[in-house]
Amino acid sequence: MARVLSGIQPSGVLHIGNYLGAVRQWVAGQSSNEALYAIVDLHALTVDIDPAELRSRTFETAVTLLAAGLDPNECTLFVQGHLHEHNELAWLLECVASYGELLRMTQFKDKAGSRESVRVGLLTYPVLMAADILLYQAEQVPVGDDQRQHLELARNLAIRFNARYGEVFTIPEAMIPPVGARVMDLQSPRRKMSKSVVSPQGTVNVTDSPAEIDRKVRRAVTDNENEVRYDPENKPGISNLLELLASTSGRSPDLLAGEFTSYGTLKAAVAESLIGELAPLQQRMQELREDRDLVLGALAEGAEKARELAAPTLFNARSAIGLLAPR
Ligand code: TYM
Repeated sequence: MARVLSGIQPSGVLHIGNYLGAVRQWVAGQSSNEALYAIVDLHALTVDIDPAELRSRTFETAVTLLAAGLDPNECTLFVQGHLHEHNELAWLLECVASYGELLRMTQFKDKAGSRESVRVGLLTYPVLMAADILLYQAEQVPVGDDQRQHLELARNLAIRFNARYGEVFTIPEAMIPPVGARVMDLQSPRRKMSKSVVSPQGTVNVTDSPAEIDRKVRRAVTDNENEVRYDPENKPGISNLLELLASTSGRSPDLLAGEFTSYGTLKAAVAESLIGELAPLQQRMQELREDRDLVLGALAEGAEKARELAAPTLFNARSAIGLLAPR
């Protein structure tokens, strides 16, 4: 059994990119691995978010993950901010990371570039993410393609820490699915679908009604040709639709392309498959929202289980780096 850890920000409603790129893999891997999944509320503080909204989004994210099939008896589902160990290890790793390597993170450059005032937390965000992973000695980290660089940083920090202070951390590896790892915005298919970019027509949320999904997919931006072909470079819109269908049907986008003679029939098939994929999840979300105790109880148990693993690693890291232990 491999030790697996991943995380998701409660910064907005989950979209099908989060679902197909990450959450479905989490569910698939929960029984064959020792899996930990974190709702990373501290990461959501790196950009402006209303406090009441953050609280309700954190709950809603837990509801979504449980509805998607995470089973608290099979995996450890917890809220990052329920454990002080993440912050503490992040500080130790901040003193191992360099300013230059954080400035080179493309996600930081993208997010910081458009803002007048940039929070320090936005810069140190990937170090907190490294702490999330390294605290649990995770071997595998299932993520979408956009987290590749952050994973590389986590590996580098672990290697550097171990070389300088002794073997404390396991070196983690990213697990990126072959399809669905980079779901693109339906209106701007050269940009990834994102919780933080406002593109209501280009983003399919897991909570969208069948009519909304149908409308968004039918209006998806394509191109001026009429040939259905998988060619992400020259036909990003059509290729994104084929990838969506591939990741819900388990077939390859290339093979699927041969089955459609018009954009309209492809779009209808994509809409139908997404609606079918999300219907059971939406039904279960409805039930879970009404059972607050069950959801909060699962998170409390998850935090306890997570702490049992996190505390010894933090202790080892503190003593390796030279902090005097209290009496
Ligand atoms: P977040 O919350 O942005 O996204 C959660 C997961 O969804 C994936 N994802 C996508 N996959 C395919 N297509 C897309 N358009 C798409 N958009 C998002 C992400 O790759 C991710 O796997 N920094 C992380 C959260 C994090 C974390 C961690 C992840 C914090 N600590 C430790 C792994 C391990 C983030 O912001 O993900």
